[in-house]
Amino acid sequence: MRNIARRVALVTNVIMISSQDSQLKSGLDRCLKFSDIMQVTTMATKWGVVSAGKISHDFVTAVQSIQEKGLHEFVAVAARNVASANEFAQSHGIQKAYGSYEALAQDPDIEVVYVGTIASHHFAVGKLMLESGKHVLMEKPMTLNLKQTKELIEIARKHKRFLMEAIWSRFFPAYKCLMELIEKGTIGDIVHVNVNFGIPLLDIERVMKKESGGGTILDLGIYTINAVTMVYHGEEPKKIAAVGYLNDDGVDIAMSSSLLYSNNRTANITTNALAEFPCELVIIGKKGQIKVPKPFWCPTTVITADKTYEFPLPEVIRPCNFVNSSGLRFEAMEVRECIKKGALESAVMPLKDSELMTGIMDEIRRQIGVVYDAD
Ligand SMILES: NC(=O)c1ccc[n+]([C@@H]2O[C@H](COP(=O)([O-])OP(=O)(O)OC[C@H]3O[C@@H](n4cnc5c(N)ncnc54)[C@H](OP(=O)(O)O)[C@@H]3O)[C@@H](O)[C@H]2O)c1
Repeated sequence: MRNIARRVALVTNVIMISSQDSQLKSGLDRCLKFSDIMQVTTMATKWGVVSAGKISHDFVTAVQSIQEKGLHEFVAVAARNVASANEFAQSHGIQKAYGSYEALAQDPDIEVVYVGTIASHHFAVGKLMLESGKHVLMEKPMTLNLKQTKELIEIARKHKRFLMEAIWSRFFPAYKCLMELIEKGTIGDIVHVNVNFGIPLLDIERVMKKESGGGTILDLGIYTINAVTMVYHGEEPKKIAAVGYLNDDGVDIAMSSSLLYSNNRTANITTNALAEFPCELVIIGKKGQIKVPKPFWCPTTVITADKTYEFPLPEVIRPCNFVNSSGLRFEAMEVRECIKKGALESAVMPLKDSELMTGIMDEIRRQIGVVYDAD
């Protein structure tokens, strides 16, 4: 019985059991007792991890740090080199290690794949996993350009697999608080959003190289565009005016853009790889301001004129590479809930917002002159 339940969860998704499909439901009811169904819906989400790099370490660490046990299980990790996959597996208590992403794609025990490879490989790895029947949580940026993002979404829809861009900011309690304050009218009608993200990145190869999908627009700009897109409820800007400059390899190391939205609302976004910036998000309304201080993309604090809201993050079981990586757990929890419900996308980070944000990045790159081979 346990095996039947497991197969149902992996192949048809747990949702099917509680779905509206009465024929299927009565069929399943005939072979599964209520206790078995409960077991299916409470089974651990079975993850595979692609790449043994820095963000993969942080993601696995954050999820393994969730105190409630039995919700998430890391089944396997894959790296281009089996030695680094083995090392990652050992240091993270993962049973299986593969020396190719293709081998992981064929593992029937894996439900959902976290893709933590560099941006230039997101499209190909995402396609491989979706076509192999896996759900996918894709590190940001979803892909290099709108053409690839649209195609990946089409593939996910065709194969009825869950796909989400790992814009972890959206799942932080501080972002939820921010959006609630905006909805409550705390600062009145919003007229402007100002957000900047600058950190020294000149020695980070994947950001400096065109062939890796480098540049600050895709690496940092995505978070500034996400903040503006959230505050303006997924609206498309009417106009974008971008400036910036490129390194010798043809990717941007600085960008500054002004965006115009409906009702004369505006936004300024800035990214920079040369220096440490304030890295804060300020939302200006007719009745006041809300500030999300550094690190605005993974914040623990939201400030209004009346109150400072604090959302400390839980401890992690081992040191992480990036700031506040403990908060990567929240996106994993969202993925689990969506898969359990049978949702093929997240309502909090919908695919239409990934399309919109990739399109904005395309337009900024076009104006500045950043062209990838994949364009
Ligand atoms: N959410 C966040 O806060 C956050 C923070 C940092 C980065 N990221 C995102 O996560 C992704 C990876 O960033 P990272 O800092 O983890 O990068 P990284 O450690 O430099 O590289 C990640 C993996 O990418 C593969 N890789 C590296 N260089 C490659 C190359 N030249 N050709 C083919 N594959 C290569 C390797 O996979 P193998 O192990 O298979 O060899 C490597 O382990 C990026 O998309 C980045 O935007 C997100």
